[in-house]
Amino acid sequence: MDSRRSTSVVLLLSFLCLHCFQSSLLRVDASSKLYIVYLGEKKHQDPNVVTASHHDMLTSLLGSKEEALSSIVYSYKHGFSGFAAMLTESQAAKLAVLPDVVSIKPNRYYKAHTTRSWDFLGLSNSQPGGLLEKAKYGEGVIVGVVDSGIWPESKSFDDSGYDAIPPRWKGVCQTGDAFDANNCSKKIIGARWYTGGVAPEDLKGEFFSPRDFAGHGTHTASTAAGGLVSNVSFHGLGAGEARGGAPHARLAIYKACWGIGISCGGAALMAAVDDAIHDGVDILSLSLTVFYEMPGTLHAVANGITVVFSAGNDGPAPQTVSNAVPWVITVAASTIDRTFPTVITLGNSRRLVGQSIYRPLELNNSFTELVYGSSCDANSLNNTDVVGKIVLCYALLEVSLPNAVSNVVNAGGVGLIFAQYTVNLLENVNPFNGIPCVLVDFEIARNIFTYLETTSNPLVKVSPTTNVVGNEVLSPKVAAFSSRGPSAAFPGVLKPDIAAPGVSILAATGNGYQFNSGTSMACPHVSGVAALLKSLHPDWSPAAIKSAIVTTASVVDAYDLAIEAEGTPRKLADPFDFGGGHIDPNRAADPGLVYDIDPKDYIKFFNCNLEQSDRCDSAEGSLYYLNLPSVAIPNLKDAAVSVSRTVTNVGPENAKYKAVVEPPPGVKMTVEPPFLTFNAHNKVETFNLTFVSTRRIQGDYTFGSLTWSDDENHSVRIPIAIRTVIEDFYSDTA
Ligand SMILES: *[C@@H]1O[C@H](CO)[C@@H](O)[C@H](O)[C@H]1NC(C)=O
Ligand SMILES: *[C@@H]1O[C@H](CO)[C@@H](O)[C@H](O)[C@H]1NC(C)=O
Ligand SMILES: *[C@@H]1O[C@H](CO)[C@@H](O)[C@H](O)[C@H]1NC(C)=O
Ligand SMILES: *[C@@H]1O[C@H](CO)[C@@H](O)[C@H](O)[C@H]1NC(C)=O
Ligand SMILES: *[C@@H]1O[C@H](CO)[C@@H](O)[C@H](O)[C@H]1NC(C)=O
Ligand SMILES: *[C@@H]1O[C@H](CO)[C@@H](O)[C@H](O)[C@H]1NC(C)=O
Repeated sequence: MDSRRSTSVVLLLSFLCLHCFQSSLLRVDASSKLYIVYLGEKKHQDPNVVTASHHDMLTSLLGSKEEALSSIVYSYKHGFSGFAAMLTESQAAKLAVLPDVVSIKPNRYYKAHTTRSWDFLGLSNSQPGGLLEKAKYGEGVIVGVVDSGIWPESKSFDDSGYDAIPPRWKGVCQTGDAFDANNCSKKIIGARWYTGGVAPEDLKGEFFSPRDFAGHGTHTASTAAGGLVSNVSFHGLGAGEARGGAPHARLAIYKACWGIGISCGGAALMAAVDDAIHDGVDILSLSLTVFYEMPGTLHAVANGITVVFSAGNDGPAPQTVSNAVPWVITVAASTIDRTFPTVITLGNSRRLVGQSIYRPLELNNSFTELVYGSSCDANSLNNTDVVGKIVLCYALLEVSLPNAVSNVVNAGGVGLIFAQYTVNLLENVNPFNGIPCVLVDFEIARNIFTYLETTSNPLVKVSPTTNVVGNEVLSPKVAAFSSRGPSAAFPGVLKPDIAAPGVSILAATGNGYQFNSGTSMACPHVSGVAALLKSLHPDWSPAAIKSAIVTTASVVDAYDLAIEAEGTPRKLADPFDFGGGHIDPNRAADPGLVYDIDPKDYIKFFNCNLEQSDRCDSAEGSLYYLNLPSVAIPNLKDAAVSVSRTVTNVGPENAKYKAVVEPPPGVKMTVEPPFLTFNAHNKVETFNLTFVSTRRIQGDYTFGSLTWSDDENHSVRIPIAIRTVIEDFYSDTA
C-alpha cells in the first residue's frame, strides 16, 4: 500500500516534468540551453521537499515560481540532489557561484556504443555446481538497464514460472506508445522513459514509451538477464540456446537513449540513474559512453548498486577508454570461440576463405564475373563497369565498409570482397544480407587480385557462411575496436577493468535474434555475472563484486597461452587492453580475498579530482591510494612510491597467503609483509607495495602484477601499470 502511494507520486512528478519541458519550449528565452545542476547529497529524505528546494532555487534566480516551473526539466531527488533546467548562460553563471552548487554543466549527448558466449565463459547451463546453479540463475536480483528501451514480446522476456515481484521493488511501469501496463511482467518488473532534453530529431518516428525503437536496449537487456530460449539463430547461423548471464534475474528498463542513432542526453541519463536508485535495482548496466563523469553513478554505488559501463569502441588507439571513474566496472570487448568462414571459389576452382554473415534466401550456384574496384570509393568505380559483377575492394582509411557497399550497389554491382585488416565488425555485413559481402585479409586479397590480373574472364562464387565453434578458434582476443587505456581523464586509475565477449553476440532484437558487436555487448555480460555474484553473496559491496571479477580474471587462453589483443599490429594483451584480464565467472564466485572500498573514499577522491583539481596534488589525495584491485602510477620519478592496499578474507576462515610478485620491467617492486594470515579474529589485512624506478626513461608504461596465493587454489591477482617520468609535464605524442 505504502509503496503504491509513493509510486503514483513518482509517476505524477515525472509527468509534470514532461509537461514542464514541453511548455518550456514555448516560453523560455531563445538563448536558453539545458543545464545539469548537481547539488551533491540530498539534504532531505522526502523527495518532495528536495524538489521544492530546486523550485525555490530557480524561483529566486528567475524571479517567479511560474518561470521556475517552466524552466525545470528534471528534478533529481532520490539518490542525490540536482536538477536539469533551461537557462541562459548568465543565469547558469549566477547559479554556479551559489555555495550549494557542486557543478553545473550543459547537457551533452552520448552514444550507445547468445548463444555461444556463456558456454565459452564456463557458465554452461548444464554444468552442475557452477556459478549459474549456485547463484540460482540470478533469482531475486534486479538488473536495471539504461538504454534504448525494450521489446517486451521477445521470447527472452517470457515470465512464465517466475514468482511474484520482490516486495522491495518500488519502481513503476510507465506506459505510452505501443506499451501498456501489461507489457510489464514478472520478468520486466519496471519500465520508464525520459524525453526531457532529447533533441527533436532523435524523437522522429520513436515510440513515446519504453518500447525499443533502435533494438540496442533489447539486445543488451537480453544479454544481461534474458531467459532461456532454445533453438535461436540468425538464418541458421550461431544456432543454439540463447540466454542472459543471469537468466532468472528481473529486469528494470530505463529508456534514455533515442532514435536510430541511439543518442542519450546527459540530463535524461541522470534522471534514469536517480529513479533506478529509488526503485531498488541491484545492478545498473549502461552500454554507452559518457566522457568524464556522470555524478549520479557514484550515488548509485554508495547505495549498494554495482554500476557497469562499456569502455567504448574507439580502439585500438591508446587513451581512448571512456567511463573511467574508479567506482564503476569498465568493460572491454573480446572475441569468442566462434567464426563465420565463408568460402570464395574462383573460376580456376581455387577455394579461399573469408568471413561473412551471408545466408541468401535462394542459393546461386553459378559463377559471377569478378572485377577490381580499387578502394571502392565513388570515384574509383566511375570508370569501371561493375554492373552485375562482384567487386574486389581494398580498404583505405577513408572508405568504410558500409560506404564501399553502398558505392558498389549504386554502381550496379551484385557483391563485394572487402580486403582489410581485422576489425571484428562482421555484422556490418548483416544489413546487406541480400548480397554477398565477404571480408578477407590482405594476403587472400592478393591471391584474388593475382587471379584477376592473369585471367581474361575472371569469375567467382560465394558460398553461404557456415560457423565454426570450439577450441580450434584462437580466442579470446581483445577486439580491435575495444577502447584502450590509459584513461586520459584519470591516469591514476587503471582502465578498462575487465574484458568480456563482445564480438558477434547473438541476442534479441524485436521478435527475432541478431548479431551485434561492440563493448555495448560486452558490458551486459559483466552485468549478468555481477547479478549472479550478488545473488550468491548478497552482502558483497559493489567494490567487492568488482574486485572478485578483476582479481580472478584470466590472462591466458584454454591452451595456457597469453591472450592477444587485435590491433595494428596484433600483440599480447596488457592491462590497458583488458584490465585484470578475461572474465572467469566461476572463479569470481570464490575469489578468496577482496579489495573492498568504503564509498566515502570515492567521495573524497571525487571532490578532490573533479571539483578542486588544483588542491589535490598532495600525496593524501593521490588516486593510487584508493583501495582498487589494480595499481596505476602515471608518474614514477626518482623517489620511491609506496601505496597500501587492504584485503578482506571472504574464503575459508583460516587462510595463509603468499605474495607472488611480477614487477613491471624497469621497476623494482616490493611487498611488505609478503605473507598474510587470516583466522576467526583477523579477516582484514593491510600491506604496502613499494615501487622504485631502476632506469631514467621518459614516459614509458610497463606492466606487472601482484598475486596473493593460498594453498587452496585461490589466486588473487591485480594488474599494475607504471610510467616512469623525468620531467613533470610530458606529453606522449611524437
Ligand atoms: C504490449 O502492449 C501492446 C499494446 O499497447 C499490445 O499490443 C502487446 O500485445 C503487449 N505485449 C505484451 C507482451 O503483453
Ligand atoms: C529449430 O528451428 C529450425 C527452423 O527455425 C527447425 O527446422 C528445427 O527443427 C528446430 N529444432 C528444434 C530442435 O526445435
Ligand atoms: C547469380 O546468378 C546469375 C546467373 O544465373 C548471375 O547473373 C548473378 O549475377 C549471380 N550472382 C549474384 C551474386 O547474384
Ligand atoms: C564519379 O562519379 C561521381 C557521381 O557519379 C561524381 O560526383 C564524381 O565527380 C565522379 N568522379 C570522377 C573522377 O569522374
Ligand atoms: C606501510 O607504509 C606506511 C607508511 O610508509 C607505514 O606507516 C606502515 O607501517 C607500513 N605498513 C606495513 C604493513 O609495512
Ligand atoms: C583447483 O582448481 C581447479 C581448476 O579450477 C579444480 O579443478 C580443482 O579441483 C581445484 N582444487 C581445489 C583443491 O580446490
